[in-house]
Amino acid sequence: MKDVVFSGIQPTGLIHVGNYLGAIRKWVALQDRHPCYYCVVDYHAITAPYDPADLPRRTLEAVAANVAAGLDPDRSVIFVQSQIPEHTELCWIFNAVTPVGELQRMTQYKDKARQRRESVNAGLLNYPILQAADILLYRGTLVPVGEDQAQHLEFAREVARRFNALYGETFPEPQVMLGDFPRVLALNDPAVKMSKSVPGSYIALTDEPETIREAVAKAVTDTGPRTGNEMSPGVKNLFDLLGAFSSPDTVRRFQQAYQDGSLRYVELKRVLADDLVSALEPVRRRYRELLARPDDIRDIVRNGADRARPVARATLAEVREKVGILRV
Ligand code: AMP
Ligand code: TRP
Repeated sequence: MKDVVFSGIQPTGLIHVGNYLGAIRKWVALQDRHPCYYCVVDYHAITAPYDPADLPRRTLEAVAANVAAGLDPDRSVIFVQSQIPEHTELCWIFNAVTPVGELQRMTQYKDKARQRRESVNAGLLNYPILQAADILLYRGTLVPVGEDQAQHLEFAREVARRFNALYGETFPEPQVMLGDFPRVLALNDPAVKMSKSVPGSYIALTDEPETIREAVAKAVTDTGPRTGNEMSPGVKNLFDLLGAFSSPDTVRRFQQAYQDGSLRYVELKRVLADDLVSALEPVRRRYRELLARPDDIRDIVRNGADRARPVARATLAEVREKVGILRV
């Protein structure tokens, strides 16, 4: 049977090269070969502090940024999670079969709970259940994501297994598919991953050329003296970006220079910044064009929901029946 691709992204127009190389580039490639569902997860987003007045705009911007990056609303089902209430309904049913201890062991939950201390809400704890519901509602089997989501995917498999064991075979176990660069590092601190919550750590696909050049110029390379031929994480990260955005010849030239000790990081950064600016130029342009036509973005969202809804309803009808929910 053909794989069904499902993935989700938080509602913000700020998509960085980590999101792109870790996940979205795969999403774009898979559109030719599989039925694909790509979901902007606004109900996940409200588990973190946020401004309600901003959320609708951020949601539309996320759709626009993903389309600018190469998602095609004709081939893929691009939609917004909250438009399909079956996501939260299935989440509730999964709540009822999930041990709390498993949720408390999730590393993302532990990290966020540590940062927030007294303001930990139940939504943050149950976040992976909603994510499992997202995927299983469409019987997704292939989930392209970055490495930080691997544990949530393992959890979603467990949810499917547990539900199937209790109520009979219903869901396939979704498989994680890591992107080409599953963990792009922060430019300003290669000890952690690139993240939109840390300015200076990322390059956004829609950044202005000057912003890109500045962020690359400030990237951390070696923090101490070079030991042997092992690249420091910061340098390796720059080479990864070079591999993704520059020509094979350019990559070879700099690798050679690294080997024979003649590499100058300013030179590497200048070329990388130039290549990033020209590779991202069309994305930035398409994003601006789309934002100028918000009604078109709304059409994409409406159309996506119309295609997602019948699938979600059919799955939920089957689940309600199996769980013993009254039908009158
Ligand atoms: P988010 O922005 O958290 O919604 O993430 C969207 C997708 O990008 C998810 O599949 C993440 O795993 C992936 N992702 C986020 N940050 C990185 C990173 N620094 N490197 C690789 N993939 C990432
Ligand atoms: N939790 C994911 C992230 O922060 C986003 C997400 C929500 C997701 N639902 C999903 C990813 C379903 C894959 C499949 O990146």
